[in-house]
Amino acid sequence: MHGDELKYMSEAYNTNWMSTVGENINVLEEKIAGLIGVKYAVALSCGTAALHLATKLAGEKLYGKPLPNAGTLAGKTVFASDCTFDASINPIAYEDGNAVFIDTEPDTWNMDPKALEKAFEIYPETRLVVVAHLYGTPGKMEEIKEICDRHGALIVEDAAESLGAKYKLNGKWVETGSLGNYNCISFNGNKIITGSSGGMFLTNSKEDADKVRKWSTQSRENAPWYQHEEIGYNYRMSNVIAGVVRGQVPYLDEHIAQKKAIYERYREGLKCLPVSMNPYDSQKSKPNFWLSCILIDKDAMCRQVRDDHKALYIPESGKSCPTEILEAIASINAEGRPIWKPMHAQPIYKNHPFITAAGSGRGQSNAYINTGDILDVGMDIFDRGLCLPSDNKMTPEEQDKIIEIIKNCFC
Ligand SMILES: Cc1ncc(COP(=O)(O)O)c(C=O)c1O
Repeated sequence: MHGDELKYMSEAYNTNWMSTVGENINVLEEKIAGLIGVKYAVALSCGTAALHLATKLAGEKLYGKPLPNAGTLAGKTVFASDCTFDASINPIAYEDGNAVFIDTEPDTWNMDPKALEKAFEIYPETRLVVVAHLYGTPGKMEEIKEICDRHGALIVEDAAESLGAKYKLNGKWVETGSLGNYNCISFNGNKIITGSSGGMFLTNSKEDADKVRKWSTQSRENAPWYQHEEIGYNYRMSNVIAGVVRGQVPYLDEHIAQKKAIYERYREGLKCLPVSMNPYDSQKSKPNFWLSCILIDKDAMCRQVRDDHKALYIPESGKSCPTEILEAIASINAEGRPIWKPMHAQPIYKNHPFITAAGSGRGQSNAYINTGDILDVGMDIFDRGLCLPSDNKMTPEEQDKIIEIIKNCFC
């Protein structure tokens, strides 16, 4: 927090606009639309709400308006990033669709265009793709957009973690949050700028912005009484929260610079170890460096097993694993995290299809024929990777302590 947040919150209080209407919301929508380079922004209660309404809108565009008790994607397949937070893809289920998870590529840890192409071979009728940019690193959007265009599919872009990250599309730098047909960002408490909560739907279509604004305020029709001809939601952002985000916006670049410095310090401090940082394409992207992560080299992994709730490992000289490092970091009351567990491995989605660059990721082995290593890039990153403490208030001294602790794990 920098001070302006309190000023704008107080303005909401002093002018009595303690509501989901007010100056902070109007200014914030204009500022964010300008910053991302889209025509319209609709302020919502959270990124999840933005993703829900974006996914619903896409479903209605593609398949028409369902009855009020049915989702817009009933019975339809939707391709989705596999390595992401579940808020990206739960809206597919809210709308009764069938998520098909697309494996991850090792260059940016995002949706693999080769696996997406395979998925269109297997499910050619699919018309919607939900793409997230993990940890603030833009995915391979040029390839993904080309594949979607060729197959007549729409894109819901989840830029919740990547606000301020840039991507070179057809030679031109653009912001994440402007790359899909329907785009979403988040101002959750852990994001690069925050309102404590909050999110936004971003679009170049006035019609879509108006529809989302209407749905987010209980779908009221133009009548003297409460008249409803569509299902509505209470998803609008509060003018108080908008004040916090409004106060944060001028500091976005500063926060990104701090996060980048943290990433670089880890990279330098850990370069003597058998680990690599979460990767990005420096020619085509400028991440916001929201979270710094490491991936342990395969041959430097000690033995580690995980079930659905717990993890065990066997310490080994010169080797380590995410569980050992996370325990060591936690011992000084700092917080690291495992890599987001892939959606196809989540108990709730375990029966959903999962597509890799080699085809279906389910049933890859054969009891009678040696089929070699099973391809599952996302699960491999989950097994060997971890998120490091990345708070932009962390001091270099505090970060050096984390680096020392990680080094000790490999002794
Ligand atoms: C990738 C991703 N998508 C969506 C969300 C949901 O945003 P919110 O918490 O604002 O609902 C988050 C994080 O919270 C996220 O990390």
